[in-house]
Amino acid sequence: MPAKRPSNVAIIMDGNGRWAVRRGLPRVAGHKKGVDRVREIVRACPDLGVKTLTLYAFSTENWKRPVFEVASLMRLFRIYIRMEAAALEQNGVCVRFIGERGPLDDDIQRMMAGLEARTAHNTLLTLQVALNYGGRDEIARAAKRMARDAALGKLDPDAVDEATVSSYLDTAACADPELVIRTSGELRTSNFLPWQAAYSEYAFVPECWPDFTAQQFGEILDQFGTRERRFGDVTAAQGGTA
Ligand code: FPP
Repeated sequence: MPAKRPSNVAIIMDGNGRWAVRRGLPRVAGHKKGVDRVREIVRACPDLGVKTLTLYAFSTENWKRPVFEVASLMRLFRIYIRMEAAALEQNGVCVRFIGERGPLDDDIQRMMAGLEARTAHNTLLTLQVALNYGGRDEIARAAKRMARDAALGKLDPDAVDEATVSSYLDTAACADPELVIRTSGELRTSNFLPWQAAYSEYAFVPECWPDFTAQQFGEILDQFGTRERRFGDVTAAQGGTA
């Protein structure tokens, strides 16, 4: 019997640069191949039972990369939005962006807002793209807005609980990921969804993102179904009553 697959999955798409360098190619060639993988993995989600997919596309730290690489990544984001918008809309995908938009070029911000508006009615799959995203930055921005609302009398400080904090995060509209996958063999979480992934399972795979296939994605989702998630509780097998 197939294992119960997770509905909410997040991916740290790592290793594009290494994939390219190992082949004697410029790093940007790895990012281009990475876009192909994004397309393939997004298309595979509905059949695999994934309802929310969150992809780490550009972190708040990625601005430190060489100017040419940052510009190339921004160009790829523009191309992806332009080329994929119609297919995403027609295939039932609702796209949302998380992260701080302010530092991104105005035209990219407009394209992001346009894609969100165009796909807002879709319900088959929610694709959250983390662009200029950092988990600590997201929490700090949320704290700032909560403090402002408290000062305005719109938020009672004594009523603040975990659900309140979640509702101020960029991800407020989506469920927390049950599983976070990182490619390229690195064993770090790199400031990705630190609040939301507090109880997530992690799968670290050795393949670089350009080599990560939909088939492998499905296998990891199946393996996840065999893991036991306890959320701090104990099970019957451990002497508990569950
Ligand atoms: C990490 O590889 C990857 C990135 C920083 C960029 C991810 C972007 C894409 C896959 C392209 C487009 C995405 C969307 C959503 C359209 P790395 O460069 O850090 O690899 P390295 O660790 O080997 O240097």
